[in-house]
Amino acid sequence: MNADELKKAAARVALERVVDSAVLGVGTGSTVNHFIDMLADAPQTVTAAVSSSEASSARLRERGIRVIPLNEFLASGESMPVYVDGADEINPALAMIKGGGGALTREKIIAQAAERFICIVDESKLVPVLGKFALPIEVVPMASGLVMRRLQALGAEPAERTGFVTDNGNVIVDAAGLQIDQPRELEIELSQWPGVVTVGLFALRGADECLIASEQGVRVLTA
Ligand code: 5RP
Repeated sequence: MNADELKKAAARVALERVVDSAVLGVGTGSTVNHFIDMLADAPQTVTAAVSSSEASSARLRERGIRVIPLNEFLASGESMPVYVDGADEINPALAMIKGGGGALTREKIIAQAAERFICIVDESKLVPVLGKFALPIEVVPMASGLVMRRLQALGAEPAERTGFVTDNGNVIVDAAGLQIDQPRELEIELSQWPGVVTVGLFALRGADECLIASEQGVRVLTA
């Protein structure tokens, strides 16, 4: 199986986690795209989706799934039992690096609003220590130089993602060369820097369950 087939396998198992007649949280990325494509044929009917990017919202709508803003969902007083999203890296404690697709801020917000975070990945994303994948950080444009200078002082090699603007009008700084032994501590520290909107570390609110697809099948890791 190639990587794309593995992503599909994880997405297929995530379909079983979708709760009938409830609002569903939907992330962003190629793995989630497979999940969205399968959603239309799922036996469960979601009442609406709350989505983490314009790209996922468009894909959901194309498949006939209603997309509502997070605030509308919150005002309804309903619950969001499940949020499904991919990751760029995930460790055995289910802390993640996310934001390869640049949607980290909305992903973190929706993950916070959901009861359960179901992460779907192929086995290449499971790592003992986070940091081989450059850590994405969403930054207010005027602060990117300052944030990069501070990252260099931490031993990282930061680079501003070229030609990319987030759905929120900000830029992404990708910080390579970090060995993230203490993801919670680093998430807290970087989140406090002026100009940082969101750090792509999802450790304080990690995944509740990870569906990891390999040639041997889909393995389930729980927090
Ligand atoms: C987007 C993300 C994605 O979940 C992450 O980049 C994984 O993407 P893919 O499923 O394409 O490998 O965080 O911001």
